[in-house]
Amino acid sequence: MKKMMTAVVALAAGLTLAACGTGGKDAAKAPLDKIKEKGTLVVATSPDYAPFEFQTLVDGKNKVVGADILMAEKIAEKLGVKLEVSSMSFDNVLNSVQNGKADIAIAGLSVSEDRMKVFDFSDAYYHVQDVLLVKKDGASSYTSTDSLAGKKVAVQKGTTQEVYAKENLKDASIISLTQMGEAINELKSGQVDAVLLDSPVALGYTSQNKDLAVADIKFPETDANTKAIVMPKDSGSLKEEIDKIVNELVESGEYENYLKEVAKYTAVE
Ligand code: ARG
Repeated sequence: MKKMMTAVVALAAGLTLAACGTGGKDAAKAPLDKIKEKGTLVVATSPDYAPFEFQTLVDGKNKVVGADILMAEKIAEKLGVKLEVSSMSFDNVLNSVQNGKADIAIAGLSVSEDRMKVFDFSDAYYHVQDVLLVKKDGASSYTSTDSLAGKKVAVQKGTTQEVYAKENLKDASIISLTQMGEAINELKSGQVDAVLLDSPVALGYTSQNKDLAVADIKFPETDANTKAIVMPKDSGSLKEEIDKIVNELVESGEYENYLKEVAKYTAVE
């Protein structure tokens, strides 16, 4: 009996060491080496944010497209690996990089101090403003953030707009919603009074919805108006490689061309 128990304990110890050994080796591997070894770059995104990432019908099939997706394709090509776009709700995008399910995240993500504590950011690839989307027939009544007292303002869960609204729009009711499309539907149906979001996305909605308009309110410019790619903290050579590609796309005007290219698509929810 005693011999059997000793054997069981030894087996369990061996399996534990083996698991640690495997996990330890992999955990110590640089992110870029892991990606190249896998042969695939897994990019987390939330395709509800045209023109950056959104769903459209191509030959009757749902496809995730957008300027960020074209950039992801270019990064995978330059790294010599396949691209896997992993779509999820926005409030799960950063977690998927943190827990290793995705290698990087490209989702119209803004730089923020809180996020920089946990992740590496690439160099900036685009700049936006926060804007307030409202019903056109009431737009003139919104002249400053004071106009939002007692109003219901929708934001997307997990966004920099959610953080800003909760910290600065104290007299408004902040409604955090998972999908951007849900926020727009609630605005159109009058369940909320306004939606706070990135400027290019708002302009997409006003071009497709004549009953919506961008309110004439200037929100403060912060780091959160700069878009960049999120990767694990201390990504080293992966950040170096991605920065090279991002800077080429920005300096050549290619990212701007991506935005023009995807304008031909119509977003579907
Ligand atoms: N720029 C804001 C942020 O980084 C909103 C991004 C929302 N992106 C999306 N794909 N829904 O928090």
